[in-house]
Amino acid sequence: MRIVILTGAGISAESGMGTFRDKGGLWENADLMKLATPEGFAEDPAAVHAFYNMRRAKVRSCQPNAAHVALAALQMDPRVEVTLVTQNVDDLHERAGSRDVIHMHGTHLVALCAACGDRWPAPEVMSVETRCVCGGMARPDVVWFGEVPYHMDRIGAALQRADLFVAIGTSGVVYPAAGFVRAAQEFGADTLELNLEPSERATDFARSCFGPATEVVPGWVNEVLT
Ligand code: APR
Repeated sequence: MRIVILTGAGISAESGMGTFRDKGGLWENADLMKLATPEGFAEDPAAVHAFYNMRRAKVRSCQPNAAHVALAALQMDPRVEVTLVTQNVDDLHERAGSRDVIHMHGTHLVALCAACGDRWPAPEVMSVETRCVCGGMARPDVVWFGEVPYHMDRIGAALQRADLFVAIGTSGVVYPAAGFVRAAQEFGADTLELNLEPSERATDFARSCFGPATEVVPGWVNEVLT
């Protein structure tokens, strides 16, 4: 069975990372347009660096949870072929043992030269003084609003071949990820939503299971493997 899994902030919520759009979420207290757009970075790069420095420190203090661990175990099973796509810019999937994670929104653990496009491991603290060897200013390697997500060809190809598409812990508000469920369905895949509560896209899914990721994800993985 070929499974494409899309994860969002909800899978890391119980690790302590918080989410973006829930009550008390990141975008309730921080200005998305200032912190997560190329225009915001051009206007005030120091503020954007400060925000991602805080997020980078936060993820270093968090551990993968039972949901990340269950998905890593699923990936290891020879009976299934799993493509794991995440919108998350943290490395909790990798730290749980997952390999070949497709970070469609990039990762704040990598620095990207805004001038030449070179990449290198992000230092713990980035600032306007953080420069590429070419002299260009460094930015976090995350995909901001108005930018094109990474690896879309690879994701599209996986969706075409999928028997099952599963979305975990994502509100279904941000495109193109929010459109994956319909695309997978059009290609003939079964679709399943695992989320704390029905998302914006809930009615697009054939099946759903609601509850905290640390419960519903291991439960679903167990079903698949037994
Ligand atoms: N278990 C499962 N789901 C949860 C949990 C939990 N413990 N806690 C919250 N959720 C669900 C919420 O109900 C919500 O539907 O996770 C979802 C989180 O939604 P968002 O905060 O919108 O996060 P996400 O969908 O990943 O956001 C997409 O928006 O700002 C951007 O680039 C950022 O990648 C991010 C994108």
